[in-house]
Amino acid sequence: MNTLTAKLIAAGTLFLFTLISGVIVSHSGGPLSVALVTVHKLIAVATVVLFGMAVNQLVKTGDAKVLVDLSVVAFAGVLFVSLVVTGALLTREMQLPEAILKVHQVAPLLALVASTASIYLLAGGKS
Ligand code: HEM
Repeated sequence: MNTLTAKLIAAGTLFLFTLISGVIVSHSGGPLSVALVTVHKLIAVATVVLFGMAVNQLVKTGDAKVLVDLSVVAFAGVLFVSLVVTGALLTREMQLPEAILKVHQVAPLLALVASTASIYLLAGGKS
């Protein structure tokens, strides 16, 4: 198994664990558990780092059709940043507009689609 495949499998698996741990945090009731949120946060950050490393490897080795491909990557990046920002706000448990939680619930699904599309476009059927 080459290193790209290993990174992609690890990123995909961690993404799944991020979703599962997020739902567990959300449904644990009462004040947020610092331990659960920390686990969720660390897995989320590891997912983003691995995704970034895989994209970097693909851009370096492949012939990215720069504008189209990289705009999809940028879209995925914006979604991940929005998740980190809304996640950090939610962790503070202050009175927040409903929209913040909504963004943190919808953005994961969009990020999943955008990151899968990024890898597909960058790999260009080569992997
Ligand atoms: C790849 C990045 C991330 C993804 C895909 C993700 C995904 C999720 C999902 C699916 C939920 C459950 C939402 C629900 O069922 O209502 C959730 C909840 C949560 N996440 Fe994340 N998350 C990410 C990053 C983060 C980060 C970086 C933090 C903290 C800095 C964070 C903090 C939280 C908190 C506090 C909740 C509970 C919200 C609540 O119900 O009050 N998340 N996340």
